[in-house]
Amino acid sequence: MNRIRFRTVFAAFALLIVAVAFASLPSVAWTQNTPMAAATPPMGWNSWNHFKDKVDDKTIRATADAMVSSGMRDAGYVYINIDDTWEGERDAQGVIHTNSKFPDMKALADYVHSKGMKLGIYSSPGAKTCAGYEGSLGHEAQDAQTYAAWGIDYLKYDLCGLRTEMKGLSPEAAHKMMTDAYVKMRDALRATGRPIVYSLCQYGDDAVWRWGADVGGNLWRTTGDINDHYARMETIGFSQAGLAKYAGPGQWNDPDMLEVGNGGMTTEEYRTHMSLWALLAAPLLAGNDVANMTPDTIELLTNKEVIVVDQDKLGRQGDRVSEEGPIEVWAKPLADGSKALGIFNRQQNPMTAIVDLKTLGLGGKVKARDLWKHQDLGALPPHFTARVPGHGVLLLKVWR
Ligand code: GLA
Repeated sequence: MNRIRFRTVFAAFALLIVAVAFASLPSVAWTQNTPMAAATPPMGWNSWNHFKDKVDDKTIRATADAMVSSGMRDAGYVYINIDDTWEGERDAQGVIHTNSKFPDMKALADYVHSKGMKLGIYSSPGAKTCAGYEGSLGHEAQDAQTYAAWGIDYLKYDLCGLRTEMKGLSPEAAHKMMTDAYVKMRDALRATGRPIVYSLCQYGDDAVWRWGADVGGNLWRTTGDINDHYARMETIGFSQAGLAKYAGPGQWNDPDMLEVGNGGMTTEEYRTHMSLWALLAAPLLAGNDVANMTPDTIELLTNKEVIVVDQDKLGRQGDRVSEEGPIEVWAKPLADGSKALGIFNRQQNPMTAIVDLKTLGLGGKVKARDLWKHQDLGALPPHFTARVPGHGVLLLKVWR
């Protein structure tokens, strides 16, 4: 190559590098200026557990108002998420519209934003959603643009309808179809330029915790649906053992929404529900009728010392550290070097738990605080016993 040709090729190459650098500038700037999505587990409310298909514009506005007046918003519950059944028809251009329950989604988003909260929505990568409404299959980019134009801040993307397309495929091909579908919506959301938390609803099949973050998920459901019974909440919550290593800032295991306040469990059982979800660094999405809450429910949902465990900025999910029949101890490391400790009694009658701090890696002088009672307990003996109510919990913060 002679010198002139070399110079020309070099100049062209340099130009190409500059062009590529410029082309990537907006996304670099966006990443630098935008706080990480879901740096701590998302907190808010979702319509499904209590309202199912009986959710409408009025319900969402009333919920937003109640989130403020009850102190829920100020306790950190900022996402108001509309689940399935908001979807109407697509027009001739393929643009999705709301059904008559939601006359103006943009106005609703403006209302929720004016209250200092964020609005979430729901769809499926399939042709139909779980409840049989219009899904996003073949309209991913269009739907993401519509959500962004409405001012949506959170999308729950529920596998459901896509399982029809996956039927009959080999496990590998079905897996690929599913992950491709999640990637497609991830890219569509990113292309809008609006930060939208991406929640994968996938029920924990195919070990979603191993690949949820790779397809762009900020959280992913690890289980089937919760319901308002202790047995179901218990099965789901305690089945999360071993998943801690897959969670961290921006990417959370999601054992489904809260049932606190829906009436099917005792206060003690709901306390177990909240404590376990906090130790699991689970998203805290209330699923009750917040416009009609008892003081008991408000207290369970807004206990700051419990919320702090869930929202701890270290972002480490807790795990089971010991098990003796129905007595289980779960621990979550916290950013200040302390640990949250949950001592659970999974049987119906009260039981005395014997806790050996040394086997929990807590040798030496250890102090404790009861997070539900807001009480310092002073120094703990290396072996201590605790009376735990049936289906109940003792939630402590312990430190050296
Ligand atoms: C599935 C999900 C639920 C809810 C319904 C809506 O069952 O797991 O959380 O979103 O669909 O149809």
